[in-house]
Amino acid sequence: MMKILAINGSPRGRNGNTDRILQSFLQGAMDAGAEVETIYLKDLKINPCLGCFTCWTRTPGVCVYEDDMVSILPKIRKADIVIYATPLYVFTVSGLMKNFMDRLIPNVNPHILKRGKHYIHPPRYPDDQKTQKIVLISNCGFPEHHHFSALVETFKCFTDNPDMELAATILCAGGELLSQPALSESLREYLDAARQAGWEVVTYGRILPETQKTLDSPLADSEAYANMANLWWESQMPHQEVITAGESSESLSPPVSLQVEKGGMPKSCREVILGMPQTFNPSVAGDLGADIQFHVTGNEPGDYVLRIRNGKCTAHEGKVSKPTLTIYTPSEVWLRIARGELNGQTAYLKNMYRVEGDFSLLLKLGNLFSGPEEKTVTSIPTPSDSKIVPKGPIRIPGMVWLTVAFLPWTVNWATSGFLSPLVSLGLPLFIGMLIWIYRKLFEKPTWMETGTVIYFTIAWLATLSGGVLFEAYEDVLGYLALAGIWLGTLAAEEPLTAEYSKWSYPRALWTHPVFLRTNAIITTVWGWVYLMQATMALAGYIYSEWLLILIVARNLLLIPSFVFTAWFQKWYPIHGSVERKR
Ligand SMILES: Cc1cc2nc3c(=O)[nH]c(=O)nc-3n(C[C@H](O)[C@H](O)[C@H](O)COP(=O)(O)O)c2cc1C
Repeated sequence: MMKILAINGSPRGRNGNTDRILQSFLQGAMDAGAEVETIYLKDLKINPCLGCFTCWTRTPGVCVYEDDMVSILPKIRKADIVIYATPLYVFTVSGLMKNFMDRLIPNVNPHILKRGKHYIHPPRYPDDQKTQKIVLISNCGFPEHHHFSALVETFKCFTDNPDMELAATILCAGGELLSQPALSESLREYLDAARQAGWEVVTYGRILPETQKTLDSPLADSEAYANMANLWWESQMPHQEVITAGESSESLSPPVSLQVEKGGMPKSCREVILGMPQTFNPSVAGDLGADIQFHVTGNEPGDYVLRIRNGKCTAHEGKVSKPTLTIYTPSEVWLRIARGELNGQTAYLKNMYRVEGDFSLLLKLGNLFSGPEEKTVTSIPTPSDSKIVPKGPIRIPGMVWLTVAFLPWTVNWATSGFLSPLVSLGLPLFIGMLIWIYRKLFEKPTWMETGTVIYFTIAWLATLSGGVLFEAYEDVLGYLALAGIWLGTLAAEEPLTAEYSKWSYPRALWTHPVFLRTNAIITTVWGWVYLMQATMALAGYIYSEWLLILIVARNLLLIPSFVFTAWFQKWYPIHGSVERKR
């Protein structure tokens, strides 16, 4: 079993940003079957190297210090992969990590030998050594990637010898975002990619380009990040002027009470903002007092204030002189957020709107104006928010796998009647088995893939042993089998379509009741479509004069089914499930 040793060099240890990336990576490595161990340097006693070289002279391989490094040195030698996980401190590794790396020298010989292009210190225990893979994981406080250049150079030099290989680097600029729980949904894609990277490094020895691309993409627009970071630092400084707007009684225009149809789509930005008190959640507000100023630009410019006092929220047109929080937004952006077409956190990280004032209030905004029902529903992101794909060298999206799963059926429909039944059933069986084996190797085969193999095995064996049933009623039995497979999965953990569509969503939502219900309904509809197709195919045998019409009708049935599926999967999570809860 592959052994991975991870060294975490952050003084924040398990609470740090580095560890968030590291643990996601290790989770993926464990998914791929690796054995992992994390060492938190902050918890250990490791003295700084004295530079005495006793470990190279009088006591070869043994340091003068008998501290925690004694037990780590052999672990380092035995590991197949060593992960150096460090926050960026002054453009390089943290002090803890540098101290640790200095203390690795007992593991090498003092001699200077030419190996490959360069002179190096060869490993002291060459028997233990293979080409050890090194993974570098880091994050930094600035939003720009170039801050890592010296760190990367250090690791290139550190691993530039025949005994080591720098197999992967994950460098997360703007990593302080990782510790903001309010942004967790927007950052899930990044951590999912880190997990995928762990799986890939164990499986392929490197990170595949698509995953690397996600890991190299900035978490946030630099300007938005800087703006947010500055607001956050200000909110942490005790000497800053305390924002008193929450208690101010500055007069405002009379409150506007706008009755927005619940669950309906807002038509204007004014309607959205003035309707926000309807979704105000007093239990989240507690005794909060605040004035939230909106400066709206774009198609529908305007100024609005939401005043929160004594567990109540009122909406006003106009301005206040000292708002607690000011939101500068184009009307189109706020409207799209309200409609659930755009994730509020993601829009902020992309600098689509800007804020000034109390940053902690901004982070609370989603919960303050959630209303209990909408909160459940809006926690389902749009599919485009996530890009995880099933494991394996063929990296195609989950939904494309559903088309692949239909390949045996398509071949069967295309060849039956033209080729001998043994071929038109045997060929799909062969293709179905290839798909099943591939999925078994890299992921779990779905019920559709398993059911397909079972059906074609039975059909082929029955035909081989002289049976004529499948030859005579191939289409009827095929549709019945499909109906059985699809409707049968309603009793399983995941309805059939969920097994494929889940890849478009963050893992945390795979068990979300709204997600499962949406897919259960779609799966049921398709199960019935196949039943109807089976009935029409059977009718074709009984009423042969209607055969052509029945064949056309059963194929045309697919058009409304596809249209329904495309519409329903978007509509239901936003509207249908809310109505159901009322
Ligand atoms: C002493 C010190 C030096 C730092 N130097 C840098 C730096 O050079 N560049 C940078 O972008 N961030 C720098 N940072 C910010 C950290 O990299 C950032 O806070 C990171 O998220 C910490 O990760 P951790 O939570 O895993 O410890 C520094 C932080 C400290 C405390």
